[in-house]
Amino acid sequence: MSNPIPQSAVTVKTIRGYVIAVLAVVLALLIAHWPAIHLESAPASLFFCAVMVSAWFGGAGSGSLATILLSFAFYYSFLPPVDTFAPKPGQLTRFVVFNLSAVLVGSLSVAQRRAAESLRRTRDDLRDTVRQLLETNDKLGRSEAYLAEAQTLSHTGSFGWDVSTGEQFWSEETYRIFEYDPTLKPTLQLALDRIYPEDLPLVEQVTASVSKHGSDVDVEHRLLMPDGTVKTIRVLGHTANDRVGKPTFLGAITDISTMKNAFEEIQNLKDQLYKENLALREEIDVSRMFEEIVGSSPALQIVLSQVAKVAPTESTVLITGETGTGKELIARAIHKRSHRSSRAFVSVNCAAIPQDLIASELFGHEKGAFTGATQRRLGRFEAADGGTIFLDEVGELPAETQVALLRVLQEREFQRVGGNETLRTNVRVVTATNRKLEASIAEGRFREDLFYRLNVFPIEVPPLRQRREDIPLLVQYFVDRYATKAGKKIRAITKRSLDLLQSHAWPGNIRELQNVIERSVIVSDSENLAVDESWLGKRPTAADSAAHGLSERLASQEKEMIEAALAASGGRVSGPSGAAAKLGIPQSTLDSKIKSMKINKHQYKKS
Ligand SMILES: Nc1ncnc2c1ncn2[C@@H]1O[C@H](COP(=O)(O)OP(=O)(O)OP(=O)(O)O)[C@@H](O)[C@H]1O
Ligand SMILES: [Mg+2]
Repeated sequence: MSNPIPQSAVTVKTIRGYVIAVLAVVLALLIAHWPAIHLESAPASLFFCAVMVSAWFGGAGSGSLATILLSFAFYYSFLPPVDTFAPKPGQLTRFVVFNLSAVLVGSLSVAQRRAAESLRRTRDDLRDTVRQLLETNDKLGRSEAYLAEAQTLSHTGSFGWDVSTGEQFWSEETYRIFEYDPTLKPTLQLALDRIYPEDLPLVEQVTASVSKHGSDVDVEHRLLMPDGTVKTIRVLGHTANDRVGKPTFLGAITDISTMKNAFEEIQNLKDQLYKENLALREEIDVSRMFEEIVGSSPALQIVLSQVAKVAPTESTVLITGETGTGKELIARAIHKRSHRSSRAFVSVNCAAIPQDLIASELFGHEKGAFTGATQRRLGRFEAADGGTIFLDEVGELPAETQVALLRVLQEREFQRVGGNETLRTNVRVVTATNRKLEASIAEGRFREDLFYRLNVFPIEVPPLRQRREDIPLLVQYFVDRYATKAGKKIRAITKRSLDLLQSHAWPGNIRELQNVIERSVIVSDSENLAVDESWLGKRPTAADSAAHGLSERLASQEKEMIEAALAASGGRVSGPSGAAAKLGIPQSTLDSKIKSMKINKHQYKKS
């Protein structure tokens, strides 16, 4: 568009027009009166030229001025009688014709000038418009190039879909993602042809819902490329009105394969790290715990020969025995002597884990499987893959976990809590219990079919009182161990103390003996170790035990001891002054004993 002309410029132009008119008139008169060219008789054409020039350069105003001035000049100088303004009635017609012709010439000139000006303005406007169009085009081209670059960098293509006509528009990147030639006309069918067969029903359902209800879309699915590679894409879109108000589905497609692979890799690395961490922890435990199994009694020899036989096989082993007899030590010995020894040994105390968490602990859980499951977590079975899992206190497993364990033993597969994926497992299962599983089966608390699966190779670890000949060796072993730890030198143990230790019933078995020795070493000031009799409590001697039904007697004795410890600790089980510490057994073991013996620990609570 041409710009408006300022007022001052208009005034200058008007004055210039009048000056031109006066000059043109003067010039025409001079030429007309110039004797050399003899125009006196026909000055009209000269005057018309002056009118035309004035009107052309000065517009209607100066054209009119020139016409008026020349009318006077014509009347005065060229109509007879000349050189007078006196009435000349005979010349009226000539005068009127002259005037009309001058007005006509002037008007034509003005009209022509206006037309020329308007043409020039139109041309200028056109030039402006073209320039603006070129600029817009340039900007558009640039922003389109940026958009295409951004789409390529972010692997995001865009598309439009006129649902009523089925017409589609795809951006360059969309073609690239679908791996189609950009000269192809985009259609819904072309897109559907690339969908991974398993994901096709989902995509068809989404497409139908868009075309029927104009629904918003946010969906992830896979594409199967002609060379067999699989891509994962995310499609986001909504229905909006286009420029002419027609509803069109506009969407963006992002190729998230790389991101997805990266996430999977991170997850795998995380899982691997978790496994390695666990295995490392287990290894540290092994190096701390795997000392030789001390003892030379025939009873222990039988157990060790069983371990040697079963270890190299893949059989499931069920280790039974009272608390503290060394069941976990036996389980580790089996693992160490098996061909899985270079892999993880994962130990799980089923009694120490809350019942509602045990399945997730063993089999892992998916993100969102239950409140608080903010991350996917691998279970102990996955951590033990290729190695051995030791399920201590297996009798404490809740019913549904027993079913899952049965499936692991029968089919070697399981599912994470909250997951659908079936995972294969290559884990050897070794279990232990210190209570009679047969009794639990009779009470309906333990599955019989699971029991037979676990009991493929039973090993019964005898209590210490049945292998008293091991006591001196064990005492020697523990004294060395704790003296070194405490930085003390202990050369011998008093005869009285040794007799005392050998005659004690040891309801807490080797763990109890170990604790008594540790305490004695800590308090000992001399090179001769002496054991305080009071630490052993009032317990039956070997002779007493033999005289009574051994196991009943021990069971009631064990109950009495637990009750006494609970009374002394005011009903507290855990902590340094708790009953578990007093008895020298783990809190979990004591908890399960309290449960199985139906002891009400709350009655000992101090008010
Ligand atoms: N023969 C042995 N030689 C050396 N140490 C032993 C022996 N048997 C057991 N111990 C030690 O006694 C402690 C208890 O052993 P372990 O934990 O294996 O018993 P457990 O039968 O699993 O007990 P619980 O039923 O309470 O779980 C451990 O510190 C272990 O090292
Ligand atoms: Mg144990």
